Amino acid sequence: MPTNKLVPVFSAKLAELDASGTSKRHEHTIFAVIPAKNDRGPRYMLLGQGDKTFLRMNSNSYLGLDFDPRVIEAETGATHLFGVGPGAVRFISGTSTQHVELERKLAVFHGRAGRDGGMLFSSAYAAVLGTLSALITDKTLVVSDKLNHNSIINAIRLARPVKSVVYPHCDVVALEGSLNQYASMAKRACIVTDGIFSMRGDHAPLDEIMAIAREHDDKYEEGVLVIVDDSHGVGAFGPTGRGTEEYVGAKADVLIGTLGKSLGANGGYVVADGIIIEYLRETAPTYIYSNPITAGEAGAAMRALQILDSREGMERVAIARKLAEHLRFGLEAHGFETIGDEHPIVPLLTRDTEKTRKLVTHLFENRILATGITYPVVPRGEEEIRFQVTAAHTYQDITEVIVALSRFPKE
Ligand SMILES: Cc1ncc(COP(=O)(O)O)c(C=O)c1O
Repeated sequence: MPTNKLVPVFSAKLAELDASGTSKRHEHTIFAVIPAKNDRGPRYMLLGQGDKTFLRMNSNSYLGLDFDPRVIEAETGATHLFGVGPGAVRFISGTSTQHVELERKLAVFHGRAGRDGGMLFSSAYAAVLGTLSALITDKTLVVSDKLNHNSIINAIRLARPVKSVVYPHCDVVALEGSLNQYASMAKRACIVTDGIFSMRGDHAPLDEIMAIAREHDDKYEEGVLVIVDDSHGVGAFGPTGRGTEEYVGAKADVLIGTLGKSLGANGGYVVADGIIIEYLRETAPTYIYSNPITAGEAGAAMRALQILDSREGMERVAIARKLAEHLRFGLEAHGFETIGDEHPIVPLLTRDTEKTRKLVTHLFENRILATGITYPVVPRGEEEIRFQVTAAHTYQDITEVIVALSRFPKE
């Protein structure tokens, strides 16, 4: 048997992960969704849990648009026109008007002079991998935040820059120090950061980062480029949901986002200078050699973007913000530690793997789904429960979470 030597190795590793409480493969399977009614948002039914219904506090769908009839209609309409799959990668024959139109609308939505191009990927993960591996060369210095998403960490590994420096979370002094220190080693520098940090709901000081980048631009023959992944920020942060850029009042050179969180659909994208986008279409491997999102997904995302870019969108962002405030206040009132700004990610810091496990179990017994985040996803000592509030939740739903937490036995 070709695998008989590997099976015991992998079995031991899986047992180790289970024992440490950090395994992720024991997934819940949703088999039914009960629509919102009166003061209750949607409830979810899980295989193996009988007729129990659960309040989902771990969805990224911040605008609550995933069941919106207008978005569903846009998806089915596009699917009827173009079929269920793209049939080929973009440059072969996989490009439809849905893709092209969505790319243009994303660029307009995030508009800024000199950033007029947009480009879709099959996911934000693929967008990060493709963009970074194309923009980082063996003569590039990469400076990146310690708490960046796994996609950025892996993309930098794949890109193999001449030097990669990781600065402590949001430490712009350290960031600037690296730009000074390694200028002689590289032709180009790339600063890479999450906008909203996915595990904490806090944001990068993008205004300061942009100022530093501009100040040091002359030190590098090909300049200093700032690349931001604001997958959690777009549609959830800033008065009109334009994300971290809007909140801090500064725009990155290259912005990466997802269609699979606030916009309720699926896929990833990049907006940047039109020439950078054209260059990426020629060089980003996850774009060239992998199928795009379906026309249906593009249609759904386009309709959701239109809703976001309207008074209703602003109201939805504000609802999620207010509910998050209610939750933060409730956590603090019951002696729990939390962090973050106005973002609908509301972490409850347990700072302990076992306590995280117990709290997730307690919430589950109270029919609330929330995700325990432990090492290595976060550094040791920063273990947490990540709650995510959406505009589909109600005030009563959030109160239900607070009441359940108040019953958790204090040590
Ligand atoms: C910061 C960040 N970037 C990228 C991704 C990946 O998004 P997608 O599911 O569209 O690949 C995530 C998902 O959790 C994320 O938090």
